[in-house]
Amino acid sequence: MIVDERIVTYIHSLEVPESEIIERIEQEALEGHVPIIRKETQSFLKVLLLMKKPLRILEIGAAVGFSAILMSEYMPEGGHITTIENYEKRIPIARRNFERAGREGQITLLEGDAYEVMKTLDGFYDFIFMDAAKGQYIQYMPEAVRLLAPEGVLLSDNVLQDGDIVESRFAVERRNRTIHSRMREYLYELKHNEQLQTSILPFGDGIALSVKKREDKKDEES
Ligand SMILES: C[S@@+](CC[C@H](N)C(=O)[O-])C[C@H]1O[C@@H](n2cnc3c(N)ncnc32)[C@H](O)[C@@H]1O
Repeated sequence: MIVDERIVTYIHSLEVPESEIIERIEQEALEGHVPIIRKETQSFLKVLLLMKKPLRILEIGAAVGFSAILMSEYMPEGGHITTIENYEKRIPIARRNFERAGREGQITLLEGDAYEVMKTLDGFYDFIFMDAAKGQYIQYMPEAVRLLAPEGVLLSDNVLQDGDIVESRFAVERRNRTIHSRMREYLYELKHNEQLQTSILPFGDGIALSVKKREDKKDEES
């Protein structure tokens, strides 16, 4: 945990419940050990959506659809979410959850590998939520930047891996070493990409918030 556990517990205690169906879907996901967005990150996401008012949202990593349903509650009227998932066991659960929440008209689930699916997408997205395999963010990044509208927002979750990405490589399991080094590469690229302005925030599991600069802004700086 990056932030003191007591502070996290205190912040969670202040949260106001969502609708009954959203609470139920979250509970079922947690009971089934499905990795879903943490409470404090949910809260940040809701504020961002109300500020940015994105009409076109892309999510990489639907799992059972919890965060997509939550986002659909906070996007503006007329908004649409496209979400990608490749785990066959989770896909039918996500589809059923969209129906249970009455959101099947606002959320489109695309099945398949995120990188392959992203390559087939066109048009700009105002908001992209990156929440799939952590070691693959660096691979998705060029597609995410291509698909992001000027002044669009990219929110990447779990970027600090509970703080483990700064641990010595010897203190980390071999499998995680690769994920962590790829994540450090991703964060470096986010911070140094001239099309993006990025802030890395050490709460939840670590998030990176990036905004795509307008073309004229990019030119002014170079
Ligand atoms: C952290 S979970 C997503 C949680 C979800 N956003 C939420 O908060 O409710 C990550 C999901 O990404 C999916 N995933 C991992 N690699 C993927 C890939 N290459 N293509 C598509 N989905 C992938 C996993 O199967 C998993 O369900």
